[in-house]
Amino acid sequence: MSILKDKVAIITGAGRGIGKETALFFAKEGANVLVNDLGANPDGSGEEKIADEVVKEIIDLGGKAIANYESVDSFNGGQNIFNSALSEFGAVDILINNAGILRDKTLFNMKESDWDAIMAVHLKGHFNCTKPFVCYIRKTNRLNCKIINMSSVSGLIGNFGQTNYGAAKAGVAGFSRSLSMEMAKYKCTVNTISPGAATRLTIDLMKAAGREVDESDWKQGPQQIAPVITWLCSEEANEVTNQIFHISQGNVGIMQQPAVIKAYKSDDIWSLEKLNNVMPELMKAKKLHDKEVEKKGEPI
Ligand SMILES: NC(=O)c1ccc[n+]([C@@H]2O[C@H](COP(=O)([O-])OP(=O)(O)OC[C@H]3O[C@@H](n4cnc5c(N)ncnc54)[C@H](O)[C@@H]3O)[C@@H](O)[C@H]2O)c1
Repeated sequence: MSILKDKVAIITGAGRGIGKETALFFAKEGANVLVNDLGANPDGSGEEKIADEVVKEIIDLGGKAIANYESVDSFNGGQNIFNSALSEFGAVDILINNAGILRDKTLFNMKESDWDAIMAVHLKGHFNCTKPFVCYIRKTNRLNCKIINMSSVSGLIGNFGQTNYGAAKAGVAGFSRSLSMEMAKYKCTVNTISPGAATRLTIDLMKAAGREVDESDWKQGPQQIAPVITWLCSEEANEVTNQIFHISQGNVGIMQQPAVIKAYKSDDIWSLEKLNNVMPELMKAKKLHDKEVEKKGEPI
């Protein structure tokens, strides 16, 4: 069974890590893949043609792929990535916005350039690569396309030393929610991934947290993310949209979205005294809710 037979997919940052594993899985499932990668260092500096190696691996396996070395951080880069896939394969069905870098620092020590680089690659990168694709979907009325965006626990829950990355990744989740509404008319699904995988971006952080790291263990490595992304891009997932999936330690879960969990009404403008009474009740409800969610989220 080739669940992505003849589909055309663009995967950004597919030269290594999660993107590479996804590109290989896609190709094995019959997709034609544009393997984009700037070949950057973890902080976004430098360039290398590592996309060629992934393309070679795919072709050696009997699949179809082309390399692209554009940076997702520029508007023209996003357009060129899309044009390249369209001119090679004649159509585009799937976009995986995966390229990523880190510039971890507390806000005390963060330079403007650290903030800007993270926003450019992650948040603007999603805009740059997605805009040409959605315009094409509307112009050609192409149905059942798929968009996968890459968020992070850092943006959805929070992480020390990552105000820039956390803000961008929370932005990615917000981008996905609104985009899923705009694309519903074209039956294009938009889903978000919150991955946890041992890659060059995370291995040092995992070791610093005292964890033993073995990338070849599927429960730790980036290979655990690829089948879930593949399933979400298949026909099986035509009705699955506007969701966040957390994939980590061999588990796959669905995350909650922001929602009001308890509210009080008032006939008059809120007095500070009334808030003294209501706020502790809201905090109590939130703590209870968090406990319940934590229990529900335990892997079965
Ligand atoms: N590994 C994890 O646990 C984890 C957790 C949360 C989120 N993520 C996200 O998942 C995605 C993949 O991360 P990974 O862990 O596989 O990292 P990785 O470093 O192994 O792969 C990222 C790839 O993106 C490429 N890239 C960087 N900047 C680029 C640019 N401007 N244009 C094109 N390509 C560029 C890099 O060259 C690299 O090959 C990232 O968006 C990351 O933020 C990863």
